[in-house]
Amino acid sequence: MLALNNVQVLYDRAIEAVRDVSLEVPAGAMVALLGSNGAGKSTILKAISGVLYQEDGEIVSGSIQLEGSAISGLSPRAIVQRGLLQVPEGRALFATLTVEENLVMGGVTRTRSETKEGLERVYELFPRVRERRAQIAGYLSGGEQQMVAIGRALMGKPRMLMLDEPSLGLAPQVVDAIFEAILGLNREAGVTVLLVEQNAQLALQVASYGYIIENGRIVLDGPAEKLRSNDDVQEFYLGFSGGERRSMRDVKHYKRRKRWLS
Ligand SMILES: Nc1ncnc2c1ncn2[C@@H]1O[C@H](COP(=O)(O)OP(=O)(O)OP(=O)(O)O)[C@@H](O)[C@H]1O
Ligand SMILES: [Mg+2]
Repeated sequence: MLALNNVQVLYDRAIEAVRDVSLEVPAGAMVALLGSNGAGKSTILKAISGVLYQEDGEIVSGSIQLEGSAISGLSPRAIVQRGLLQVPEGRALFATLTVEENLVMGGVTRTRSETKEGLERVYELFPRVRERRAQIAGYLSGGEQQMVAIGRALMGKPRMLMLDEPSLGLAPQVVDAIFEAILGLNREAGVTVLLVEQNAQLALQVASYGYIIENGRIVLDGPAEKLRSNDDVQEFYLGFSGGERRSMRDVKHYKRRKRWLS
């Protein structure tokens, strides 16, 4: 459904944030993109959504294809109209508007009855959001705001959803509720998902395939169960100790680990 081929992104014509990234998200799949702070995860999502120009970022080489046709260079609006929606990092709600107003903003191109249907779908998925629908979005808890952000994207009836660290800063119980909803969207509603996470433990439980990015490059990829049992991933991402070995390899690993955890 979505394919990136050797994508390179520069900010301010000088800072290379993403280098030679290729990845694929098959239709109907849930794919995870994992990496630590500053690895380039959000930059990749912004490149796909066509919003890099807002930050003086630019795709300088490579291609991005959605269902076989190139989308790099299209406006963010044109990309949304093709069914690809992003839930940005930090949720980016309109803090002074109510929950329902925020949701309606996500479906601006829709008719009145489509808006009503959309709201109903979101409220069914997140009963908490229905309860809070008349409240000012800025006063909601972090978890509720994340639900509204996902709900707002759903108002656009996406065929593919990209989520930027939906678990960030949330309590485990709230994270469970949100991930259950994401799983439901993928498995039941058939929405293709690209999930960006620092929480590898969680992401590799729900995704079928994963990519690990470090310093703007993909350093490892594979089926989720293979990544879960990979020694490096276990040691650096899943918090298992690698045993008693002492060698150069361990020292190297230790350095990498520090980078990953920075
Ligand atoms: N607007 C910008 N201008 C210049 N450099 C930027 C800009 N946005 C990001 N960068 C740089 O690009 C690199 C990748 O940043 P990005 O936000 O994509 O990382 P990330 O993996 O999403 O990190 P996090 O987990 O902290 O959200 C970093 O080195 C960052 O400093
Ligand atoms: Mg980010």
